[in-house]
Amino acid sequence: MTEERTLIIGASGGIGSALAEMSQARGEVIGLSRRADGLDLTDEASIERVLGGLAGTFDRILVTTGALQIGEAGPEKTIRALDPADMAAQFALNAIGPALVLKHLLPLVPRDRRSVVAVLSARVGSIGDNHIGGWISYRAAKAAVNQVLRTSAIEYGRLRKQAILVALHPGTVQTDLTGPYLGRHKAVTPPEAAANLIRVIDGLTPEDSGHFFDWAGKPVPW
Ligand SMILES: NC(=O)c1ccc[n+]([C@@H]2O[C@H](COP(=O)([O-])OP(=O)(O)OC[C@H]3O[C@@H](n4cnc5c(N)ncnc54)[C@H](OP(=O)(O)O)[C@@H]3O)[C@@H](O)[C@H]2O)c1
Repeated sequence: MTEERTLIIGASGGIGSALAEMSQARGEVIGLSRRADGLDLTDEASIERVLGGLAGTFDRILVTTGALQIGEAGPEKTIRALDPADMAAQFALNAIGPALVLKHLLPLVPRDRRSVVAVLSARVGSIGDNHIGGWISYRAAKAAVNQVLRTSAIEYGRLRKQAILVALHPGTVQTDLTGPYLGRHKAVTPPEAAANLIRVIDGLTPEDSGHFFDWAGKPVPW
């Protein structure tokens, strides 16, 4: 197998670190995080600085940052609990953050070979699949990042013909993010989630660019 280069943005997270570890067997892995590299997705200057410091291009670029609870603000159970500052923080991290990454990422995406840029979204960001309500700010931020991804995929498609941009739902995974909210929900381990996501990523074709898939490779409705 030819050596691949993988870039993980959010490599300190549960899913991000499992993806980084699992990608080692395939070649060079560069893992970036807020904690280790000062790459804060709510600070464009840090994104520009850290991504601008990377050389060469990558076969896989995985954006695995995000939060369900930011500070004291957990997901709302009702619209009556909505706080505008908390909602803005959700958008800053989960929607605008990946958008800024996509803004500064183009030089790292190869012109001459296949590459995949995957942003971890969440099934709860699906508008068509929303039957139980709640978690308004997180859902809305994920719906927004899906639109960002879709729109960027169209533009990237013109500039990088072999680039495949997708939004991925990793399944329900045992990480710090889900810890307080899992209850009796079934959840997979981060290595299981990483294996599932890599399987999906490996099977993607250019026609899949701009779409939203779950951990099994099944399309998720927008
Ligand atoms: N776990 C699930 O069941 C599940 C389900 C659906 C979707 N997802 C999505 O999958 C992604 C990863 O989730 P996870 O479960 O792996 O979460 P996690 O273990 O809590 O990891 C979150 C990651 O996000 C980073 N992060 C948080 N705020 C940041 C900021 N301002 N700037 C830069 N990095 C920041 C953290 O970096 P530091 O530690 O360095 O701060 C960490 O690397 C998220 O987008 C989440 O919405 C997860």
